[in-house]
Formats: sequence, structure tokens, C-alpha cells
Amino acid sequence: GLRCVVTGAASGIGHAVAEHLGKAGASVTCLDRNEPTAPVERFVRVDLADPASIDAAVAELGTGWDALINVAGIPGTAPAELVFSVNFLGLRHLTESMFESLNTGGAIVNVSSTAGFQWAERLPLLRELLAAESFEAGLDWFRRNPQDTNAYNLSKEALTVYTMAMGTGLVELGLRMNAVLPGPVDTPILPDFEDSMGKDTLDGLKFLLGRHASPEDIAAPIVFLASPEARWVNGHAMVVDGGITGAVLSGLV
Ligand code: NAI
Repeated sequence: GLRCVVTGAASGIGHAVAEHLGKAGASVTCLDRNEPTAPVERFVRVDLADPASIDAAVAELGTGWDALINVAGIPGTAPAELVFSVNFLGLRHLTESMFESLNTGGAIVNVSSTAGFQWAERLPLLRELLAAESFEAGLDWFRRNPQDTNAYNLSKEALTVYTMAMGTGLVELGLRMNAVLPGPVDTPILPDFEDSMGKDTLDGLKFLLGRHASPEDIAAPIVFLASPEARWVNGHAMVVDGGITGAVLSGLV
């Protein structure tokens, strides 16, 4: 079976990914700030807001991994710098620190969000951010470009564009990177999204589709992208939202 590292596997979507992988015969190591309840083989505590904690976790993990699945993230109700650090800077630091620990043919899957759908409109800004290549340089950039109410969306826009940009960047290492972009998912952070994005907005989406996504709705595509079955899918941002984004972008809904 595949040897997988899953961040955020203590709750919500990450928990569902760990369960799905476990049933498929993969071994799962959970990286989280909290201890998981899912059937994981191993737990390594990490604070993704802290590069030193990430470095320690990477050293503890060792090598020989087939997949790194970056699910951990926090909603926009948390302080802006923390949101940006966990959702983008820490994720990128962990990922790049693990490039050498992943096997040839391995995969990285990032959980972004449809909340970052406006990435194309902010490309000049996002390119500037992505040029700040270290955690510290990225945090400096963020302090110079404060996003008090938009940190969550910007963190997901950055993650989506970073994933796309890596489409050819990992060829020499024999790795692939893709992202899954969920719409609203029934997990413990949904109430925070209702606070930060408006309960009416989320209720409207739920009304259009009949329900929100379950964590398993999101886990299955994630596991596919992490598997060798997806070997020619690279640098792709896959929307998994029941159809909302396409309908909205078409301008007909
Ligand atoms: P959740 O709150 O159930 O799970 C998030 C996990 O990340 C938790 O186990 C938490 O301990 C971990 N985590 C948070 N901060 C951390 C840190 N500093 N270091 C290490 N681990 C940390 O939330 P959910 O819904 O499963 O979210 C997972 C991902 O999905 C997030 O990136 C979120 O932005 C994204 N997402 C969620 C949507 C939703 O409606 N629930 C919609 C679109 C994207």
C-alpha cells in the first residue's frame, strides 16, 4: 500500500481522507496540532504556523513517502497572519521541505477552496507573493500587504496558483502536485465559515444543491489525485463543489 502523510487528519476532511486511505490498504501518518481519532498508523504533532515545528516534524518523518496530502487549514475567523501562515506559508514550507523525502512517482495534494476562485483577478499580486520563497519572506510580504478581512481567500488563491505553477516544477523529482477546491463541507469549521462568509450565502448554496458536501465527498477525489491512477494529472486545481462554481462562473445562475 501507499505510504501517506496527511495533515489535518485529526478532524473533518483530513479524518475522512485517513479513513479512505486506510480502507484502501495505505498506511497513514497524521500531522496535526491535535491528536487524531482516525485509524492512523502514526501521529506526529506539528504547528503549521511555526517553521521550526515543521522542520522538526519533517526530520521525524524520515523518507520513503508516496504522498503528502495537505488538508490542515483554519477559517477566516482566526487572526489574519495566522490564517495566512497555516493555510499557505506553513503548507508550502512543509511541502518543499519534504520534496526529497517523497518517492519518485509520488504525489502532493493540497486542499484549497472555491473561496479562492478570484485568483485570476489577483495574479500580479499573487506572483509577487510567490516570488517571496521562504516562510519568513512570505510573512514579510503579507505584513507589507495586509489583508485584514481577506486573508482566508488570499491564502487559498495563493495555494491554487502555487499548485498550478508547480505543474512542470517537479518533473525532475518525478513528483506531481494537484489541488482539490471544495465548496462548503459539513465539518466542525462550517460555523466559522458561516460567520466569515455570511450564513445567508452558505444557506443559499445549500438550497441550490440540496445539501452541503460530506467530508467523504471530498476525500474520494483527494485519494484519486494522490494515487498512481492520476499519473498524468499535474498542476490541476480540481473543483469539488457539486457544481456551484461552474454555474456561477457561467453567469447564468
Ligand atoms: P477541520 O477544522 O475539521 O480540520 C482542520 C484540521 O487542521 C484540524 O484537525 C486542525 O487541528 C488542523 N490544524 C489547524 N491548524 C493547524 C496548525 N496550525 N497546525 C497543524 N494542524 C492544524 O476543518 P475541515 O473542514 O476538515 O478543513 C480542512 C481543509 O479544508 C482546510 O484547509 C479548509 O480551509 C478546507 N476547506 C474546508 C471547507 C469546509 O466547508 N469545511 C470548504 C473549503 C475548503
